Amino acid sequence: MEGLKRKREEEVNNRLHGYGVSDEHVVCLCVIVCVCVQVCDHSAKVARHYNCLQEVGLQARSQSRIVFMRNFNNWLKSVLIGEVLDQVREGGSQQVSVLDLGCGKGGDLLKWRRGGITHLVCADIAAVSVDQCQSRYEEMKKKSHFNEKIFSAEFITADCSKELLSEKIQSSQLFDVCSCQFVFHYSFENEQKAETMLKNACDQLKPGGFFIGTTPDAFELIKRLEATDDLTFGNDVFQVSFPSKGSYPLFGCQYHFSLDQVVNVPEFLVYFPLLEHMAKRYNMRLVMKQRFSEFFEEKVKKDHHRSLMMKMNAMESFPADGGCQNIDSSSEYDHAQEHCGREGVKLPVGTLSRSEWEAASIYLVFVFQKL
Ligand SMILES: C[S@@+](CC[C@H](N)C(=O)[O-])C[C@H]1O[C@@H](n2cnc3c(N)ncnc32)[C@H](O)[C@@H]1O
Repeated sequence: MEGLKRKREEEVNNRLHGYGVSDEHVVCLCVIVCVCVQVCDHSAKVARHYNCLQEVGLQARSQSRIVFMRNFNNWLKSVLIGEVLDQVREGGSQQVSVLDLGCGKGGDLLKWRRGGITHLVCADIAAVSVDQCQSRYEEMKKKSHFNEKIFSAEFITADCSKELLSEKIQSSQLFDVCSCQFVFHYSFENEQKAETMLKNACDQLKPGGFFIGTTPDAFELIKRLEATDDLTFGNDVFQVSFPSKGSYPLFGCQYHFSLDQVVNVPEFLVYFPLLEHMAKRYNMRLVMKQRFSEFFEEKVKKDHHRSLMMKMNAMESFPADGGCQNIDSSSEYDHAQEHCGREGVKLPVGTLSRSEWEAASIYLVFVFQKL
């Protein structure tokens, strides 16, 4: 922030002196500009937003219109995490240490448990979420079988796009994996924030370690925006709105994403080739980048991923038991209906409603590896 303020002050100074404005005026104007820099920073908004989000119970979650999409996203993260942990073990690491960057309320704790990791550092900007994450972890430990060894964990509240986690983490070891799920797009507000977030993700990785994550695909967002006459697109389940179109800066390209009628805080386009370029500075090589649809098509071919999908209820049965689908509109399931009509298809099939699929298919999944 200090560096940014100073840079802005210099810019304003140079410009104003050029116009013949006195030093006294410049001081006043610099104060205004600095206040603006603070107000325009979205970190506090992000923290407030996530701190206020209520943790809804299992029952409320299961009645949501986007329950299958949420389960699908969780399945996808489970597959990603499981496969990366397998690779870490194949590489010879037996004691696996993980950084969950933007851990939220701890939605991935069970995945880390299933993956048999040794140590987990959870960091998030929202203190309430970090507290809930810690409580969930304590609860999980308490309820575990006496001879199951649960990983040790640390919990840190920090703006990971501004503060260096290396100064806050107590355990001194390097990480095998950094996982950043549905988080990175908040940091693309400006270069400095994106840079700090990336440093936190990659600096403490062991050679051979992985940086994995999920984030909206900028190409997909812009493709859909350019296809409308409007500045907004979406359906009953999600809405994306941009302030303008035609020109898209590399950093600070803001849009709003609301899901299931919850208006989210502003997000920023992550232009992936730029992220890939920035990551090279940390010796990170892109190993895989796939849209959710591509990832799904590849992974669902494997029996164990498919049976996990059933277990996690990550697809809706079509036709549903009792005939009542999750979204009450037959056009939401045209694609499933058509598929069912094909020769040899055994009923019921697994599907997502059209609206949920349109939302889920905005995202991409990535894996970087440290050289
Ligand atoms: C959509 S949630 C995802 C939570 C979790 N990773 C998951 O997959 O369930 C985004 C999370 O990113 C966190 N976040 C956003 N900006 C952040 C920042 N600058 N530093 C740390 N956490 C941040 C939010 O507080 C929120 O918990």
